[in-house]
Amino acid sequence: MKKFLNIALPKGRLGEKVYDMFERAGYDCASIKENSRKLIFENEDLGIRFFWVKPSDVAIYVERGAADIGVAGKDILLEYSPEVYELLDLNVGKCSMAVAGKKNFVDDRTKTLRVATKFVNIAKNYYSSIGRDIDIIALNGSIELAPILDLSDVIVDIVETGSTLKENNLEVIEKFVPISARLIANKSSFKFKTEIIEDITAKLAEIVG
Ligand code: PRP
Repeated sequence: MKKFLNIALPKGRLGEKVYDMFERAGYDCASIKENSRKLIFENEDLGIRFFWVKPSDVAIYVERGAADIGVAGKDILLEYSPEVYELLDLNVGKCSMAVAGKKNFVDDRTKTLRVATKFVNIAKNYYSSIGRDIDIIALNGSIELAPILDLSDVIVDIVETGSTLKENNLEVIEKFVPISARLIANKSSFKFKTEIIEDITAKLAEIVG
């Protein structure tokens, strides 16, 4: 049986953009564009196999070797620190990790700051780097509700267009890490499938410019 190079792509709009980059790089798989619920697509001639994965799960597939390479957001890489190689900044899916709060929020430094977030490690690292004591409130979504309902003082979350904050009368206090999609590789795959992984990386790098 032929050994495929397994590529995990983040399901959704970003993944479609990333697939187009692979296609332009010469690593295509026409059947992926057929409208279906299928999750796996192969190009036997090229020896590659794409699969759609929930964006936040890509790093797990790659770390454990179920995928040889994949595309994951820098937010996920910072939050979970998976044991993978980060090969290339694809310069898409660009957004920022930011602290946000109610308009005119003033930090009372005599009190512990209550921070609601999905990104517990990123928030802890950020506040420890500026020496601020915090109480983390770990949520799974709709983070913007927390300051409105006084569950937290601020949130740490991804800001892309800023419209979610705006529509909830919140504003950015500080953007502290730029985020974008990264090409990542499983460490042992990189050792044993170096040639094809390096070729894909080089061709994608040309497209990124
Ligand atoms: C992210 C983030 C914000 C929103 C920001 O959520 O948590 O809610 O996007 O984008 P904007 O600045 O363009 O409004 P996402 O849509 O990824 O959904 P999730 O909460 O399920 O992760």
